[in-house]
Amino acid sequence: MPRISGPATPAVATPRHDTARTPDTSSQPASKPAGWGAGASSTSAAERREKATGVSTNVAQLSDVQKEAVVQKKATCPFIGTAVQSGGLPVRNSADKPLASIDDVARLGNTGPNSDLGEVLRLFAKGNHAQMMGMGGKLDMPVPPGTFSLDFPGSQGSHAGDSGILQSDPRAPNSGRFSDEAFARLIAGAKDGRVKRSDIGKFIAHNVMNDPRANAPGLKTAGLLIRDFAKLTGEVVEQGARKATGNSNPVESRQVYEKLTRLLGEDNLIGSAGEFGLMAALLANSPNTRQVGGEPAYSVAELTMMFKEKKFPPGWESWTKSSHDWASSTLALTVAAEKELIKEKYF
Ligand code: HEM
Repeated sequence: MPRISGPATPAVATPRHDTARTPDTSSQPASKPAGWGAGASSTSAAERREKATGVSTNVAQLSDVQKEAVVQKKATCPFIGTAVQSGGLPVRNSADKPLASIDDVARLGNTGPNSDLGEVLRLFAKGNHAQMMGMGGKLDMPVPPGTFSLDFPGSQGSHAGDSGILQSDPRAPNSGRFSDEAFARLIAGAKDGRVKRSDIGKFIAHNVMNDPRANAPGLKTAGLLIRDFAKLTGEVVEQGARKATGNSNPVESRQVYEKLTRLLGEDNLIGSAGEFGLMAALLANSPNTRQVGGEPAYSVAELTMMFKEKKFPPGWESWTKSSHDWASSTLALTVAAEKELIKEKYF
């Protein structure tokens, strides 16, 4: 792969509307992620860093078997796994120590009219996945700037109280695998082929209840956390807007990301609500999502596509995906889960 210095953000290829294709970023020049040695002088810095660490930010040429292994064992997220499988999110460095570009994942989240979910995806990528596999087989080596590690199990982003659908042990690297039993629990409450958002909230509650290591401090704290949450989400979007106009303040934006990631990390119930909140934001404007009893109900077929088949629902890139939908759905999921924990006398 020819090395191209300077990370000028490549223009996004206009997605052709044949269904279920992800915006084709792989045709983009494999420019280095932002910050990885932009400009002539830093190019040698990039080479020096690559030599010193043995870590490259170039797109890796993976065989289908290698890509499948990254998707199943490491990228244990219905969205990221599907983005890697479909080629929409190029894998960088290697199959053993896979990286991805933060700009690439943000671009996917910002597809569709007036979408800004990509700025929230930056949060997850920067805040939770800044460590890659080190020499000792632990996730303790800082990733190159502008990238994030695709080794999710064992990372800061994988937490107690998760569903167990895509990973057998959130603490153990490479423990990814698909569980039909756990997925069946997610869709157990489905009616007419759709799962209501509040049913996903109840599912999250039972995952927390079934994991003695899970930390869910309770409603009062949740109320406080959500207030901070809404405030911080506003700051995330503001940072995104400033970045778009070229006057972002990297230190300030890093602080916002760190604050919000800490918030999601403090309470595993809210952590899971934040992840399923992303799914709710992604499917919010799907033609297959319906309002049922005053709340959204998501298509089991589309959830199965992403969790099990690693395929994006047809037309997803043309749907509006907003940080506002993320914050409001995360709040609704948190409250539904807390109510279920109270009903089950967990508190
Ligand atoms: C629109 C984009 C995204 C959607 C729809 C999404 C959706 C989800 C969902 C629904 C889960 C819960 C899976 C479960 O509990 O079994 C999840 C888990 C996860 N996601 Fe994503 N995600 C998105 C973006 C990201 C990004 C950008 C990252 C990191 C760079 C990420 C990292 C993770 C990790 C580490 C987990 C596992 C957490 C755990 O232990 O439960 N996700 N994601």
